[in-house]
Amino acid sequence: MTTRFDPYRVREFDLSGLQGISDETLEMHFKLYAGYVKETNRLDELIAGFLSDGQIDQEEQPAYSELSRRRGFESNGMVLHELYFGNLKKGGSDDPPANSAFARAAAESFGSFATWKADFIGIGKMRGVGWAVCSQDPTTGGLRNHWITLHEAGHVAGFRPLLVMDVWEHAFLLDYAPADRPKYIEAFFRNVDWSVVASRLAARETASRAGTEAARAR
Ligand SMILES: [Fe+2]
Repeated sequence: MTTRFDPYRVREFDLSGLQGISDETLEMHFKLYAGYVKETNRLDELIAGFLSDGQIDQEEQPAYSELSRRRGFESNGMVLHELYFGNLKKGGSDDPPANSAFARAAAESFGSFATWKADFIGIGKMRGVGWAVCSQDPTTGGLRNHWITLHEAGHVAGFRPLLVMDVWEHAFLLDYAPADRPKYIEAFFRNVDWSVVASRLAARETASRAGTEAARAR
């Protein structure tokens, strides 16, 4: 039996005309993203090659291990970029409607939407290379903001990413100096597609049906 992973396809995003994030930046960023898709597919293919005889031989283990570690970097790079581009749009807005499900969920977890936003922005300003991600705990429905180092370190298993902000310098270097990351973060918020963020928010009842709540309570 031959192992074969379905290859991922590069997705298209129509984002020209954003406020404060130039088309030039986006074109460059789309190319970087396409590289993550290509590399994820290449690693899948190489790993499938190791599995073609149904086992990992001892002499294959070092190379197989290195490829498998890189897979976490490349595949999270692919998915995070899709989530990032996916939560932007031309004509976006700084904040969601005050009575929207996301704004209410943020206020429920943080005391107020403004406090949630201060936390998310604070994470986005952290020194280092990575991402700010607001995720939903599937077992409680609560929201948390996390710093992701590079693409793969800092995710909480099973949490649903709702709002994803790339703060690698390539995301803004053509538009802002490295020290002006806060200006890029302001620009990011002017372009958020809150309807997409809302669509990623799972109903608490649905989330708790995942079966993990009972496991955690034990
Ligand atoms: Fe990026």
